[in-house]
Amino acid sequence: MPRPSDPAARARRDADAALATLLPPLVHEATAAVLVVDLDNRQVTFANDLARQLAPGRDLPMTVDDWSAAAGLEDVEGIELPEGATPSSPAESLLRVAQGEPATGEAITAMRATAATDAREVLWVLGLPLEGAPDALANLSLVVFLPARNAQLVAGVQESAMTLRDRAVLATRVSFTITDPATPDNPLVWVNPAFTETTGYTFDEAVGRNCRFLQGPDTDERVIDEIRASLAAERPLTTTLLNYAKDGRRFWNELSISPVRDHEGKVTHFVGVQADVTARVEAQQARDDALSQVADAADRLALLADFTSRMAMSQQPQQILELLADALVPRVGTWCVIVTLDDGGTIADPYVLHEAGDTDADVARRIAALRAVVREQLPETGPIMRVLRGETRDILVTDYDSADPGESGAADDERTSLITELGARSLVAVPLLARSGILGCVMLVADDQRPPLSEADVALVQDVAVRAGLMLENTRLYARERAAAATLQRSLLPRLPTVEGMTVAAEYVPAADEAAVGGDWYDVFPLRGGKAVGIVVGDVMGHNIDSAARMGKLSTIVRSYGWPGSDPHVVLTAVDELLDGSNLDFLATCVYATLTPTETGATLRYSSAGHPPAVVREPDGTVRVLDGSRGPMIGISRLLANSSRPADAVIELERGSTLICFTDGLTDAFGPEPDMDEGLAELCRLTASAPADATPRRLIETLTRAAVRHGDDVAVVAMCID
Ligand code: FNR
Repeated sequence: MPRPSDPAARARRDADAALATLLPPLVHEATAAVLVVDLDNRQVTFANDLARQLAPGRDLPMTVDDWSAAAGLEDVEGIELPEGATPSSPAESLLRVAQGEPATGEAITAMRATAATDAREVLWVLGLPLEGAPDALANLSLVVFLPARNAQLVAGVQESAMTLRDRAVLATRVSFTITDPATPDNPLVWVNPAFTETTGYTFDEAVGRNCRFLQGPDTDERVIDEIRASLAAERPLTTTLLNYAKDGRRFWNELSISPVRDHEGKVTHFVGVQADVTARVEAQQARDDALSQVADAADRLALLADFTSRMAMSQQPQQILELLADALVPRVGTWCVIVTLDDGGTIADPYVLHEAGDTDADVARRIAALRAVVREQLPETGPIMRVLRGETRDILVTDYDSADPGESGAADDERTSLITELGARSLVAVPLLARSGILGCVMLVADDQRPPLSEADVALVQDVAVRAGLMLENTRLYARERAAAATLQRSLLPRLPTVEGMTVAAEYVPAADEAAVGGDWYDVFPLRGGKAVGIVVGDVMGHNIDSAARMGKLSTIVRSYGWPGSDPHVVLTAVDELLDGSNLDFLATCVYATLTPTETGATLRYSSAGHPPAVVREPDGTVRVLDGSRGPMIGISRLLANSSRPADAVIELERGSTLICFTDGLTDAFGPEPDMDEGLAELCRLTASAPADATPRRLIETLTRAAVRHGDDVAVVAMCID
């Protein structure tokens, strides 16, 4: 055994490495240029399309010398051909090769006539005398040029001690065939030994038959049609198709067919060059598979990311179901059913989405029927019920038609036909899971226009369903909290007292999506002595059950300090001190006012803790904005160096005047965007233009109905001095 450092061994290894690089492209990537050479009169009688590109614009037949000159053939530079074998010209070299000497080919360079540059291309030339062919062909030889990409490697191969063996390999890997279209069914009349090597069929087994015996059940009919059409049109063609060797082995065959014409242009033969390109096709398929897996994974990640970010914006359960269905249909499946259980465990109206949407009346009718079935008579053993009962975390049916009826839920004729009419080849069912348990089921179905759903799809639907389940649970918890907050809020708002000499109306309007239920409040209460009345409208920061509860406390505190009849700014200061001293953590705005009847109307005193100004509508319709006595918000006095509240603003109101106090939810509601100044101006305009005899109730209705936005809740009180 040679030592590793043995130079001869190293040279052989280098040559092996060179061959490993060179041979595959030679054999597998080559699309061959083919000449037919008549050895008797040294003429080129046929050149296929590629060969014609080597010597363009020349009419055949022509001598090998002329053709070599036209193609600009030269021996590869730097290659020392063996002593005595050195040809006198490249044409001689070509002829020698055509005669089968050396038996395994030669490297040669040609002008790349079609290229933009005049670069030379290295070609490997093989000669295949048609030994054993019928008489008319026996004096012919095929000359095949295969492009070699690297001149040095070619040189290396030619020089290498292994050259002969490897050139022989090359020669045996590319098979050649000739057919006779003048004989019925265009049979093979000659094949080279490589054909036997590749296919297992001997010369005698192959010759006399049409070459389609290499085809089998998985050969693509479309490629066969393509070959038939090219042969009928006498056009050259290169294609790749699946063939079967004699022992049944499948291989990918790159087939190049060229018609050979006589001097009158009549096709006398077809020449076929075949190469077994299985390794290349399989490598390409593996690459394609790997690429498509990566692309699939990227698609899935994008789908999840997109779904998650959209879902984060939604607070309505229905919206979450719609997003879930949109994420899966049509990207992953044809249609889907989402079933949810309500708090009591009852199946709610299912959501069904089909890729045909509502545009197809027939599909829409079937969806409606399916929803009714899901609502009323879900099969106990079907996928949805099994998932809802928690019996399984996933169901995958890849072939709906032949699935166990229990598995697919296809037990009932009517149900089965509904599902099959909507298209069902495969289905996936998974639970909508949340912390509290199973909230529902997602069933995704693919029709027979799509590949069956796979394990990867199950994983994807599960991912999406878990996210949706958690979000659904959050919205339910949130909705419950909001409902509780709204109930609390309403229970804390006072019943309006009857105040002698005044007409009072008040309204609380919760935000449209109820998301903003919170701390807006109003209060109207008689003061000690029974003559004067206290009015508060305020807004505790925050929009949840806490702020509703705080609002309840704060309204009681204001009422308690207000009761003795103290001046408004004194009342608010007392509230500040209490909050400060008792570490109550409130942040609120409010306006507190007292109305004390007089001979001509009433005296209004008020103080504002960072609250939007109230307004007064005078009997003639004039509207005054009450922006006096503005002090800090409630709850921040401890943070301020000088937190004393300004003295009350005091105004005498005539009889017939109406005081209107409100929260910013009202002024923010008038325009597309909240804007305090514009909102207040609009409020004044609306109030001024109300009819002269408008009651407080009527004024409140006018204002609340003019709202175009309902993003925040609104509290408003109106009091008219009669
Ligand atoms: C062929 N054909 C062929 N088909 C195949 O599957 N493997 C092969 O290697 C070859 N080689 C080949 C060489 C030559 C020179 C010719 C003319 C044709 C094609 C095959 O014989 C036949 O033409 C096609 O199957 C289309 O015709 P049918 O089967 O529709 O008649």
